[in-house]
Amino acid sequence: MTSGRGMWITLEGGDGSGKTTQANLLADWLSESGHTVLRTREPGGSEVGQLIRDIVLHHRGDIAPRAEALLYAADRAHHVATVVRPALERGEIVLQDRYLDSSVAYQGAGRVLDGAEVRNLSLWAAEGALPDLTLLLDLAPEAARGRLDSADKPFDRLEAEKTEFHTRVRDAYLALADAEPERFLVLDASASVDEIAAAVRERVAPYLR
Ligand code: TYD
Repeated sequence: MTSGRGMWITLEGGDGSGKTTQANLLADWLSESGHTVLRTREPGGSEVGQLIRDIVLHHRGDIAPRAEALLYAADRAHHVATVVRPALERGEIVLQDRYLDSSVAYQGAGRVLDGAEVRNLSLWAAEGALPDLTLLLDLAPEAARGRLDSADKPFDRLEAEKTEFHTRVRDAYLALADAEPERFLVLDASASVDEIAAAVRERVAPYLR
């Protein structure tokens, strides 16, 4: 992002792709090298955001797709304005779980909303703010499922639909990474934790000089 002096790194990927493990390792490495790191996330990286998170993740019953996209965008607008920008202006490294690429991949992958419109909505919300680096932990949905739930379950239609949805999410992420190769680092999340962490550090190091 151009306005701040710090560095803004976001992590993206499906559930079970290992984002948290890598975020923790990167945060430790950065702190040990003397940097101030702010860990945050969307949705829910601010007080208002916690309330929105509660709605989008825990509301029982449907939320109209456009309303859902607007809730994520509202969370984003407040988070960027009150948490991310101030930290970058203080010169900190912001390490954030999920950002607008999540909206494009997840809200767009429902097939109801257009990915470009969802992206533009988020860009409006965040006054155009984009991370310096986005780490995409890419993993086949089948492998992610295996990690989340190693129990051997018989085929069920709902699970198959879920896998199809997650395949669309994954494809959307990969298309985003293709469109902005200078912002994205795509990591094979089936590699070992250490291998991934090393690749991340190699890509982050030049920004710190
Ligand atoms: P969360 O509990 O934070 O878990 P994780 O990031 O480890 O998967 O879940 C956040 C969920 O919100 C996740 O399923 C993706 C979804 N999401 C969207 O659909 N759109 C968005 O813009 C964001 C930020 C998240």
